[in-house]
Amino acid sequence: TWTTAAFVEEAIREIRARVGEKRVLLALSGGVDSSTLAFLLYKAIGDQLTCVFIDQGFMRKLEPERLLKLFQEQFHIPVEYVNARDRFLAQVDGITDPEEKRRRIGHEFIRVFEETSKRLGHFDYLAQGTLYPDVIESADTNVDPQTGERVAVKIKSHHNVGGLPKDLRFKLVEPLRKLFKDEVRKVGRSIGLPEEIVQRQPFPGPGLAIRILGEVTAERLNILRDADLIVRQEINQRGLYHDFWQAFAVLLPIRSVGVMGDQRTYAYPIVLRIVKSEDGMTADWARVPYDVLEAISTRIVNEVKGVNRVVYDITSKPPGTIEWE
Ligand code: XMP
Repeated sequence: TWTTAAFVEEAIREIRARVGEKRVLLALSGGVDSSTLAFLLYKAIGDQLTCVFIDQGFMRKLEPERLLKLFQEQFHIPVEYVNARDRFLAQVDGITDPEEKRRRIGHEFIRVFEETSKRLGHFDYLAQGTLYPDVIESADTNVDPQTGERVAVKIKSHHNVGGLPKDLRFKLVEPLRKLFKDEVRKVGRSIGLPEEIVQRQPFPGPGLAIRILGEVTAERLNILRDADLIVRQEINQRGLYHDFWQAFAVLLPIRSVGVMGDQRTYAYPIVLRIVKSEDGMTADWARVPYDVLEAISTRIVNEVKGVNRVVYDITSKPPGTIEWE
């Protein structure tokens, strides 16, 4: 029978056998897959592993800081932090089309990743948090036709755009490739990852950039980050985090009239998107208790400058999608 302890032991043995004395590069995203992966690799090969965290500037408030703190202070796993916020913001400047945003962010990610990997020396291997469903999905694309070996052609977090340049075609280390998501969670938990990572709700690779409809600006990012933090706080403090597939805020690039004290306001609306789902393919809007919605709405309008209205999305998927872009 499958046990996490046996899996971890076997994975460590396999990693050591595969990479020998060579160096391995890993792109850390903060999700359960890449975090579990980092943990296993560090346990197996220590300093031969280099974890890179590329900060695109589109994560939720305080998440980059938390991730770094967790890895460096709690797990003592060194992380190369790359602050690429300005570059990514410049890439999406003036771009309103959702697919064009994704494309630009994905390509920039690969450029930054390439530069970082070259700056840090030579790596033979790339560690990817490929899971069993991903292996099936990309059955032939990742196999070198000459050697039959699995090689990296794409970065998992940005798999839907472009590919790695030819001189960056690392060999792959994929210790999670036989696992389903629930098994990764079990492994992650068994090696000491905190619940906030193990049970993390899905978060899209392009992050908050696709939760600001239309043009992404530094000002809008700050507004959305503050609103989104309130959504999470109100939901977490009631112990509701695990009740939902995803719960988040979206910023609309329009303004409406409101009143605050005796002042007329003209500001952005925030959309709350809270859904229940099994796999993200279909979803139901969550019947969140009115008092929770009330608390979120009141706090956002009172605490987040630039927002004067909060609306709740009552569309299921299909016909809606979970994200708004
Ligand atoms: P939709 O909006 O299509 O989302 O109903 C389904 C699930 O996929 C996530 N999602 C993304 N994840 N890159 C990602 O890594 C993306 O560009 C992306 N778009 C949507 C979404 O959060 C939901 O869990």
